[in-house]
Amino acid sequence: MIGSWNALPALARASQELAANTPLLDAVVRGISLVEDDPDEMSVGFGGLPNEDCVVELDAAVMDGLTHRSGAVAGLRSVRHAARLALEVMRRTDHALLVGDGALKFARLLGFPEENLLTDRARKAWLNWKANLSDRDAWVTPDQAASSFGTARWAGRAGPEMLAPDAPPPKVPFTYGTIHVSALDAAGNLASCTSTSGLSYKIAGRVGDSPVVGAGLYTDNAVGSAGATGRGESVLQVCGAHTIVARMEAGDSPTDACLVTLKKIADRTRLPHLRDDQGRPTFNVTLYALRKDGLFGAASMHEGYEFAVLEHGMPRAQAAAFLFPRSRDA
Ligand code: GLY
Repeated sequence: MIGSWNALPALARASQELAANTPLLDAVVRGISLVEDDPDEMSVGFGGLPNEDCVVELDAAVMDGLTHRSGAVAGLRSVRHAARLALEVMRRTDHALLVGDGALKFARLLGFPEENLLTDRARKAWLNWKANLSDRDAWVTPDQAASSFGTARWAGRAGPEMLAPDAPPPKVPFTYGTIHVSALDAAGNLASCTSTSGLSYKIAGRVGDSPVVGAGLYTDNAVGSAGATGRGESVLQVCGAHTIVARMEAGDSPTDACLVTLKKIADRTRLPHLRDDQGRPTFNVTLYALRKDGLFGAASMHEGYEFAVLEHGMPRAQAAAFLFPRSRDA
């Protein structure tokens, strides 16, 4: 099994499930559910960073290499186990993707619990983002407020929602964070799953690559399995995961298939705000590839990223290959 850097606990859990004879895709989804449950993983499931309206919206998909079937949900609110719901779409319907209210209604029919997915930490991160977004709206930072009103008055004005003026803002990055797992079992079957809360502070209804078969994941027992994390818009525009599998089918190694796909993304990134002064993408994408013979690889747009590997029951982190080296004078 391979996965994104945050998938180490998922791989360990999936491996235990496989040892207990859980079917491959179910084992992968149960592993990912563990990370969806983690409130400190702010890019997936419960505790994921919200959209610009401060509402958490989740996307997830599964794909089964043996049957070549898939299931997905997008823009899902109030249900933390998006991956498990995607698996139910695959198992219980003749559809491939349910979105928004339709996905929530489906979850209700199956008895999935509903809850507020927004944790205090994610809500405070949203407040921090909102206050720092612009100096042309009515939201001000605690610092700006303190300089206008004085700290003592600010303390009286601030509700429990606001950070104290002298408190450092929570260090929560703007994120495209996502979890992906691709897995191969002893019988030679492949399966994959990708789950995310998507781009933080996105426009409500924005859906990235994760729930789109061929972009955020793609699995074909005849060739291999692939997935993506990072800027979903860019992965969608090159059909990322499908491109990786097609390159492996044409003879590329898993790592080369990822690098060729990253190059395609980089070459097609034309908007000036997405390119640095040397023309390189300002964002990251990491791609993962697992061939049907067990050879695997991963590559990132930029140097410095890791991915998760589980071989012979032991999970470990491994450095991903990269397209662009880190600038040494940075
Ligand atoms: N790759 C996750 C997203 O862009 O939503």
